[in-house]
Parts: sequence; structure tokens; C-alpha cells
Amino acid sequence: MDLLKRPFAQPVAVAGLPPPVFRRLRDIVYGHAGLFFEDSKQYFVEKRLERRMQDLRIVDPEEYLRRLEADLGRAELHNLIEELTVNETYFFRNVPQLEGFSTKVLPRLIAAKRQAGTRTLRIWSAACSTGEEPYTLAIILREALPDLTNWHVEVLGTDIDRNALRTAHRATYEARSVKDVPPDLLTRYFTVSDGKWQVAPEVTKLVSLQQVNLIDKHAMRRMSGFDVIFCRNVLIYFDDSSRRLTLGYFYDALNPGGYVFLGHSESVGRITAAFRIERLETFLCYSKQAM
Ligand SMILES: C[S@@+](CC[C@H](N)C(=O)[O-])C[C@H]1O[C@@H](n2cnc3c(N)ncnc32)[C@H](O)[C@@H]1O
Repeated sequence: MDLLKRPFAQPVAVAGLPPPVFRRLRDIVYGHAGLFFEDSKQYFVEKRLERRMQDLRIVDPEEYLRRLEADLGRAELHNLIEELTVNETYFFRNVPQLEGFSTKVLPRLIAAKRQAGTRTLRIWSAACSTGEEPYTLAIILREALPDLTNWHVEVLGTDIDRNALRTAHRATYEARSVKDVPPDLLTRYFTVSDGKWQVAPEVTKLVSLQQVNLIDKHAMRRMSGFDVIFCRNVLIYFDDSSRRLTLGYFYDALNPGGYVFLGHSESVGRITAAFRIERLETFLCYSKQAM
């Protein structure tokens, strides 16, 4: 047996990173992905870091840090960021907000489009994780537009995490992911086999997926022409400065009259005055004034 190919038996334990090492690591991650880890999150970072060090057979955190700093291609930085992301998501997350989108915002957008003589609707699920959010939005659009074939409808799902996007591409989910899907929609838009739920092709064909980092200036400046942007449960991991940056890119990527939906504990009011804030029953949404 080739000894070099044997798995690394020695478990790596990182407890109590020296503060300068923790801060340097945190700053590198923050500079690339906007994710900000307070000192109180050190234990979380250490646990995720252990997995990367185990993979690379490195036992000394300072050696790992040197490796990260010398990694010009950023391959290891991407691996580390993928360990640090929180990918929790599920279909029909936050039903009242989705109902507000489908019963208040969509009819307005559809009426405005009809009046303008266009039949294009573009929705962006920014930070879509494993895909449940963009597929949920595609199901809602199918339900809201009986004459869907006459429309050009596109739902774009993006995330920084390539592993999450691979799951999104497969569009096959465990029962816990579909627990909040209304039963009639579950029957209509999913098939189940061996306990796995597969999203129907009539839904997946409306969705395209792409790796996009929300604070990458070049990638974000290429995004444009969206009617609605959903960016839920990611800005909580950013600090105000990366939130402001991302919301500025969203503003530019939206069509006039377009909307942004955030997670329930996130808001833009404190960060930027660019959007008009609108209360839709129990939640807020943000619009870019029509010209
Ligand atoms: C908790 S999930 C949110 C999923 C979905 N939007 C929802 O609300 O259910 C947060 C996602 O944000 C992604 N993320 C974190 N930083 C990011 C960045 N800088 N650019 C793009 N996506 C990022 C993570 O990879 C993760 O999949």
C-alpha cells in the first residue's frame, strides 16, 4: 500500500487560535466574500478550519495561514469559504413573504409589463444555496402565469459555493427540504423515488444557475435587467460595509420599478436610502422607483 495515499489518521484539533492568526484568517475571508466573523465566532471558524487542515494534512494553523497567503490562484481560499458558508435553506421558506410576492408584487409587475408591451420577467435568487429558493420562485411563477408559454420567464440562482450549486443542479432533495411545500404543489411539481424528491423539468427549465460572489465588483456589474431580486438570509453574515456594497450592486441590477426581498431579520433602511420601502402586511420590500 502506498503510504502517502493513506488517509490522514491523525485528527487535527484547533482550539484557541492565537488572536493574530484568527484575525488574519478572518480578514482574508472578509476581503474576498464579505463574510464577517466577530471574535465570538472564533470557535465556529476553528471547527471549519480543522476540516481544511485535515484535508491538507496540516497540523499547525500558522502553516495553514502561510499556505492560504501564498495561494495566488485562490483555490484553497475558495475551499475554506465553502467550509465557512451556512447553506441552510428549504422550499417555500417564509410563506407569508412569498404570498406577498405572488399576490401583491407579481400582479403589479405583470400589469406593468403588459402595459409596456413586454413579456419578459427576470427574477434573481442571489445566494440561492442548494437551489430550493429559485425552484420555489419558478413554481410560484408557473402558478401566477397561466399563459406562461407566451412569456419569457427566467429565474437565475447564484451562490458563491460551488458544492451548493452542484446540489442545485441535481434538483433532488431530502424530505426535510420539501416539508413546507403545499401538498397540491408537491404532487404537481415533484416526483418521489427512494425517499428523494425530484423537481419536475417544467420547473427546472425556468431556472439557470451560476457562481457569483455578491461582493465581486466585476461579476456584480455584469448583472442587469432584473425585475425582482431575492437575497434572503445572507446579509446577516455580512458587515454594514459589504451589505452597502451588495445593495448598491442590486440597485444597479434592477429594472426601474423592480423589487428587492430580504430575509426577515435583514433591512436596507439603515444601510442605504436608495430604495423605496414598502410594507406588505407583515414584511417590508424595497423598490427602485420607476422612471
Ligand atoms: C443561509 S443560505 C440562504 C439560502 C436562501 N437564500 C434562503 O434564504 O433560504 C446563505 C447562502 O449565502 C451564500 N453566500 C455567502 N457569502 C456569499 C457571497 N459573498 N456571495 C454569494 N453567496 C454567498 C452561502 O454560500 C449560502 O449558500
